[in-house]
Amino acid sequence: MSDLSSRPDDAAVGLTIPHESASLHVTGAALYTDDLVGRTRDVLHAHPVQAPHAHARVTGLRVDAAHDVPGVVRVLTADDVPGVNDAGVKGDEPLFPSEVMYHGHAVCWVLAETLEAARLGAAAVEVDYDPLPAVIGLREAIAAGSFQGGQPTVERGNVEDGLAGSARVFSGEVEMSGQEHFYLETMASLAQVDEAGQVFLQSSTQHPSETQEIVAHVLGLSNHQVTVQCLRMGGGFGGKEMQPHGYAAIAALGATLTGRPVRLRLNRTQDLTMTGKRHGFHAQWRVGFDADGRLQALDATLTSDGGWSLDLSEPVLARALCHVDNAYWIPHVRVNGRIARTHKTSQTAFRGFGGPQGMLVIEDILGRCAPLLGIDADELRRRNFYVDGQSTPYGQPVRHPERVATAWQRVLESGDVARRRAEIADFNRRHPHTKRGLALTPVKFGISFNFTAFNQAGALVHVYKDGSVLINHGGTEMGQGLHTKMLQVAATTLGVPLERVRLAPTRTDKVPNTSATAASSGADLNGGAVKHASEQIKARLAEVAAGRELAWEDLVREAYFSRVQLWAAGFYRTEGIEWDSSVMRGHPFKYFAYGVAATEVEVDGFTGAYRTRRVDIVHDVGDSLSPLVDLGQIEGGFVQGAGWLTLEDLRWDESDGPSRGRLATQAASTYKLPAFSEMPEEFNVSLLERAHEDGAVYGSKAVGEPPLMLAFSVREALRQAAAAFGPAGTSVDLASPATPEAVYWAVEDARAGRTDGRVLEGLPGRVPDQPGADAHALHPRSEQVARSVPAEVRS
Ligand code: MTE
Ligand code: MOS
Repeated sequence: MSDLSSRPDDAAVGLTIPHESASLHVTGAALYTDDLVGRTRDVLHAHPVQAPHAHARVTGLRVDAAHDVPGVVRVLTADDVPGVNDAGVKGDEPLFPSEVMYHGHAVCWVLAETLEAARLGAAAVEVDYDPLPAVIGLREAIAAGSFQGGQPTVERGNVEDGLAGSARVFSGEVEMSGQEHFYLETMASLAQVDEAGQVFLQSSTQHPSETQEIVAHVLGLSNHQVTVQCLRMGGGFGGKEMQPHGYAAIAALGATLTGRPVRLRLNRTQDLTMTGKRHGFHAQWRVGFDADGRLQALDATLTSDGGWSLDLSEPVLARALCHVDNAYWIPHVRVNGRIARTHKTSQTAFRGFGGPQGMLVIEDILGRCAPLLGIDADELRRRNFYVDGQSTPYGQPVRHPERVATAWQRVLESGDVARRRAEIADFNRRHPHTKRGLALTPVKFGISFNFTAFNQAGALVHVYKDGSVLINHGGTEMGQGLHTKMLQVAATTLGVPLERVRLAPTRTDKVPNTSATAASSGADLNGGAVKHASEQIKARLAEVAAGRELAWEDLVREAYFSRVQLWAAGFYRTEGIEWDSSVMRGHPFKYFAYGVAATEVEVDGFTGAYRTRRVDIVHDVGDSLSPLVDLGQIEGGFVQGAGWLTLEDLRWDESDGPSRGRLATQAASTYKLPAFSEMPEEFNVSLLERAHEDGAVYGSKAVGEPPLMLAFSVREALRQAAAAFGPAGTSVDLASPATPEAVYWAVEDARAGRTDGRVLEGLPGRVPDQPGADAHALHPRSEQVARSVPAEVRS
């Protein structure tokens, strides 16, 4: 056991306690950024002028009429920017654009005494547009060669040899849609300026240090003149990793120019139409199996839909490429990646950060090829698990691969899977119009930022004279329970009761140069830093105590009078990781988080409607820092993943009409989120036992993102159920998301004995070409699906 991972007796970590703000959340007392507006005097409100074109040049901008609207104070345009007119870090995101790049792009912003006045002012602004051709669909972008950013490849072995030596070779393609974050709290910032022009920004951001940097470069200030505070977020899910910066910069610019506090909070429609989402992906692939169904080779090209600018598309793509293997050993691999540029919102981080999209490719392949191989899908998966001594396609040894097999076995047992399978077979025999399916899928997810430099964190721990403790760390709280865990870590290291420790909001003037709270690494990184700071104080106190048994308060008082420093800054960096993005090789992850889920569904053959009857999960969180928090993360992640894979259906207008490029699903009325009615009827989650992780704080593992991918079991169960409507051995091509409509078409295909038309088998010794996205026919059902787009439904 390492120093980092070993736990003292009576540790506060591992206690089953509620989220530190749980009672504030449920009573409505918890303060979010926009709640501060009511507590601040003379606030101005910002409203965007959104372009009604997907792609257009701005040829004229007349703001005078806005000034005639009572209450309007100022209109912010590109001319007002003292520094760099860019909201990102790649130089491709003009804050005030001269070229509109997506439907709803903000051209300028109006500040007014009330939000309503700002809205009326924005409506009065006159903008002339010269419309330009717009690329909307991902296939369209591929066909047009519309790409942006690097085109990396992860490669091991020789794919052609591997395919040539395979007993069975298949080729096919798959598409998956993006996902709206739908955090309950939309983007929000409140900016204030002091007498020296220093900016204080309250922002709902996962990355306060980067918000600070972008605000500084837009305003032409140094970082030390800008302070960003994040009280907490009402959800981020990756959506606030990069995208709050521009909105914060608008608020800061407005505050600088008017001398008054400026509040910018997007309403729901604005948030949906302006901010980035999970990347949709397209993948084309060839795969080879030996006679026993063991994966031999995978050749794939993944294309993500990046939207109008790069934002985080490159690292998201890198993670997708690094997760194509999921939990499976594939000797020969070549995975190419590219990012399409389309005239849509700039797609961004979303829980899993490309990992889910990469993993969907292999899970889809296994689900579709299993019937063609004549092997049960669960057995095909199990047969291909990594074993000790093997490494990933990018060269990292897979440590503890046996945890997947263990979790798999636990789920089989606790989920009573063998008995239920027999029951399901019997049920399906007796019910021609209703079928059930049950599927198990594994998760292996790499923990750490691929970009090595981000794997550092800081903390500040103060012990006051009365023995009370205040901690600050670089991570942000978005509901995931990071602060709860940090309180537990500080209490454990200092050896004080939890009630003695308080946590202050995240601020860039307390802990500088922080990384985004992302990649699920918040607790690993900040926990390491909090522990480090606490240990320094603890060591000094031990000297004061000199072997005596003193009560904490007495010891602290004595230390103070002995002039011993009672506060410390802590720092942590993850050791033993490296990544070379130029060749896509290295050891980027400190460890892997593992899990297995079994899901049973029931599908109605008349409508495609389905229910999730039961879910059993065994998930590896190491030695949990906070079991209740982790349980919530597993349940929430699973449900969010099920939403992505089965319900949430982003639709953009791809017609040639005037609203081309408009997001058609602009509200919860047309964008179906998981709700109580979609919860699994029986939902059993347990933590993998004896799962100590030597390389992380107090033996724990990250939990934020990995459980999302347990939801593949829902998709695969739906595939099984749909297949049950057809003859034995039917391979089912299931669209993603597998909405009831998509399931209905899959059922229809299965019933008609139409086996998956998009998987082609190569002849022995003759490997099929990778099907080209452009050369290939559209999904046979895409016409029907397209027709079902709600025409201009307004919220
Ligand atoms: N849980 C809640 N309740 N709200 C969130 O916004 N974000 C997820 C996950 N769990 C999120 C959440 C994402 S995308 C990440 S990367 C992690 O939390 C970030 O927090 P952590 O690093 O502390 O796990
Ligand atoms: Mo999470 S997508 O890494 O913010």
